[in-house]
Amino acid sequence: MAYIAPSILSADFVNLERDIRDIRDNGADWLHVDVMDGMFVPNITIGIPVVRAIRRVTDLPLDVHLMIRQPIRYAEAFIKAGADWLCIHVEADTLENNLACLDKIRALGCKSAVSLKPGTSAEEARPYLEKCDMILVMTVEPGFGGQKFMADMMPKLQALRRMLDAVNPGCLLEVDGGVDANTHAICKENGAQVLVTGSAYFKAADRKAFVRMIQG
Ligand code: DX5
Ligand code: ZN
Repeated sequence: MAYIAPSILSADFVNLERDIRDIRDNGADWLHVDVMDGMFVPNITIGIPVVRAIRRVTDLPLDVHLMIRQPIRYAEAFIKAGADWLCIHVEADTLENNLACLDKIRALGCKSAVSLKPGTSAEEARPYLEKCDMILVMTVEPGFGGQKFMADMMPKLQALRRMLDAVNPGCLLEVDGGVDANTHAICKENGAQVLVTGSAYFKAADRKAFVRMIQG
C-alpha cells in the first residue's frame, strides 16, 4: 500500500478547481504542490496566494514541495497559507539554516520534509533524519514535469530506509518525478510510501484506475 500525491504542475491552470476536485473524487490521498523560484530551479510556478486559494477548495493534505533558495524565508507564509507538509531541499541553504527551518516548520504545527536532488547522496541527509517526518527522493532533476524516471535512484531509497529505521522509523519516504504505470512498482519495492505523479496522472485514460494502481 502506498499514498498517491498527484502534482498539480500538470493540471489545467484555467480549470484548477475542477482538476483539484477531480483528484479527490478519483480517490487520491494527497495533493502535491510544486513551488519554484526561478533560482533554485530554472522554472517559476506557483506561490503563496495560489496555495491559499487551493486550501479553500480541498480538504486533501497539501504536500508543498519548495524548490526555492533559502526556504526559511517563506516557510511560515506557506504554512499559514495552508500547507500540511512542507518540504525543503537540502541543497537550498546551509545545514544550519535548513535545520532551523525544519524546527520552525514543526513548531508551527506542520509536517516537515527534506528533498534530495538526484546528485545528492543519502549520506547528505543524515543530519536531517531526526528532524523530518518525510524524505523526498527526486527521481528527475527538479524543475519540470514529464521527465524520464531515474531508476538509478533506487539504491538511495533503500539506503535512506535503512538509515531511518535506525533513528526515525516513522519517517515516510516519498518519490517524485517520472512515476507512472511502468515505474511505480519499483519505487514501492525499494521503500517508497508516497508517490508523486504529475503528467502520468493527468494523462491517464482512467484516472480512478490509475490512482488505485499506484496505491496498490
Ligand atoms: C518536478 C516536480 C514534480 C513534477 C512531477 O520538479 O517536483 O512534482 O510535477 O511531474 P512528473 O510526474 O510528470 O514527472
Ligand atoms: Zn514535486
